Amino acid sequence: MADQLHYQSGFRNHFATEALPGALPEGQNSPQQCAYGLYAEQLTGSAFTAPRHRNLRSWLYRIRPSAAHSAYQPLDNDRVHTAPPARPAADPNQMRWDPAPLPDTPTDFIDSLLTIAVNGDAGTQTGTAVHVYAFNADMVERFFYNADGELLIVPQLGALRLRTELGELEVDSGEIAVIPRGIKFQVRRGAGTKVARGYVCENYGSPLELPGLGPIGANGLANPRDFLAPVAAYEHQPGHFRVVAKFSGRFWETRLDHSPLDVVAWHGNYTPYKYNLAHFNTINTVSFDHPDPSIFTVLTSVSDTPGMANLDFVIFPPRWMVAEHTFRPPWFHRNLMSEFMGLIHGEYDAKAAGFLPGGASLHNCMSPHGPDAASFDKAASATLEPQYQGNTLAFMFESRYVFHPTEAALQADFRQQDYVHVWSTLRANFNPDQR
Ligand SMILES: [Fe+2]
Repeated sequence: MADQLHYQSGFRNHFATEALPGALPEGQNSPQQCAYGLYAEQLTGSAFTAPRHRNLRSWLYRIRPSAAHSAYQPLDNDRVHTAPPARPAADPNQMRWDPAPLPDTPTDFIDSLLTIAVNGDAGTQTGTAVHVYAFNADMVERFFYNADGELLIVPQLGALRLRTELGELEVDSGEIAVIPRGIKFQVRRGAGTKVARGYVCENYGSPLELPGLGPIGANGLANPRDFLAPVAAYEHQPGHFRVVAKFSGRFWETRLDHSPLDVVAWHGNYTPYKYNLAHFNTINTVSFDHPDPSIFTVLTSVSDTPGMANLDFVIFPPRWMVAEHTFRPPWFHRNLMSEFMGLIHGEYDAKAAGFLPGGASLHNCMSPHGPDAASFDKAASATLEPQYQGNTLAFMFESRYVFHPTEAALQADFRQQDYVHVWSTLRANFNPDQR
């Protein structure tokens, strides 16, 4: 495959791409015989009868159909968990973690995945799981697909080369990628990367889509043309290959004698994609008060209740802060929605210390949180000139469903067991005699 990658631009466009001229049939999907002796295979990401604007499918023209493989065998994996948890462990305590440690022995993406929390129920296609990865070895002869949900990958350290059935994506820190449910792929390290670390949100629910813009109008937030899908690329390679499937909460493995990346041409709107978060058109107040973080929603997975997301992917990007007579960081709050946060680089304005790039925090439904004492004092007394907050890129996986942290996350060496005490030094400033 070529090293210099090409992309197609647009969100959920009906793309058409071929690595050999004429490999795509014209004017139909399933001809009696396909060009070059290819097999046609449809991959759907929605029910056949989903409304047109939510209908997701692609037609793949490949050297062998996906069904040509050995029987699936269960594969042990005690690091990755799926909702509902075997032992529910919802916990109202505020939690925070240092960055996941980097591996010191060769470890690939799949083996490095560690589940931090799960919510909802994968079997009913509701909720999510949050995983972290930290790997230093490429996947070479094995591939992966996830039948339980789509994967939203947020690299924090290092670049990823995502080799998928539909083509390749190179995704650097500051960018995100989404691999839809079912699509086979392989993760290698991107150019110049020795070790990679980041976050994965496994979305069991409705596929991520762009949020409605309401009164904002036709433009703003993440613009559709900035989403990039791969172009068709294939390898026609015999060998001993393995495909690991995550299916109904377990890992399974099947063997095949050829590379599964053998799609010569495809068309449709069910594709992997990437997005550079620097292209996010950030909107903020130009008068007063702290707006709710929903103005920073990049992608959303809707639930069956309007306005209550299964998952909102929200970022806190570099931006101007100009609000007058306003406490500019997030005030103290308790929310219905549960919040898992991570930091890609820089600093987050509501915490003076302890929330590190690669680290994470969890504030579940109604669990109180907000600035620590140092951040409060600083923001409450700051001179409110226009200020560019440039050194920051934080994000949130926000869900209507309470997150259940895994036992591994609760007991992890890199969990900050004393996190709740960050608010213990907030003193009572109340004085009934001084307004
Ligand atoms: Fe919050």
